[in-house]
Amino acid sequence: MRFLISAGPTREAVDAVRFFSNHSTGKMGYALAQAAIEAGHMAVLVSGPVALPPVPGAEMVRVTTAAEMAEAVKSRFADCDVAIMAAAVADYRPKNPAANKLKKRDGDLVIELERTEDILSSIGKMKRPGQILAGFAAETDDVEENALGKLRRKNLDFIAANDVSKPGCGFAADTNSITVYAADGRCFHLPFGLKTEVAKQILNIITGDTE
Ligand code: CTP
Repeated sequence: MRFLISAGPTREAVDAVRFFSNHSTGKMGYALAQAAIEAGHMAVLVSGPVALPPVPGAEMVRVTTAAEMAEAVKSRFADCDVAIMAAAVADYRPKNPAANKLKKRDGDLVIELERTEDILSSIGKMKRPGQILAGFAAETDDVEENALGKLRRKNLDFIAANDVSKPGCGFAADTNSITVYAADGRCFHLPFGLKTEVAKQILNIITGDTE
């Protein structure tokens, strides 16, 4: 099968030398691409700026902003069988980034933000019969309810929900504890473990190899 995977954070420019971003390291998305290659699939990995080495055998597409990631993912979506969006895409970006470096002044600075495109929602609308679409939900409260809401709203087949309030789970950790909810009502509680192991199990669930 042909996998399309997004990973890592995005960076949204404030001025010539500053950006807004988040603590995503890309580990989960890279582990998914690695697991796909090891299972004999093809993988395109659209990655924001991370410190990880490329995944051998995967086609690497490097992007910086949410807009670049949206373009890279949407232009490749028609050619994939399975898309898994694991990137921590910025939900907002500065509305008028300064071309030069902002100089400090007395008093507060207010930066107006505008919404970025929700890439997962966009490809959810583009999805053809037979294509499988999966997303992630990082939640601190009402994990199941929020994850199922995203599954429905974004037209997903699977959502991997991550309770990031638990120790050892979420951004920058090597480990993760995930529950995968399927659109058909099935639910898979994965044991706490290394992201590399969790990735293999997520892949098995998505490709229907759950024995
Ligand atoms: N996602 C995306 N494009 C965005 C934002 C998110 O593709 N601009 C994807 C992520 O890769 C992930 C899922 O959507 O698979 C996360 O859903 P989202 O509703 O954005 O979660 P949060 O950012 O946690 O948002 P909320 O504040 O609604 O909980």
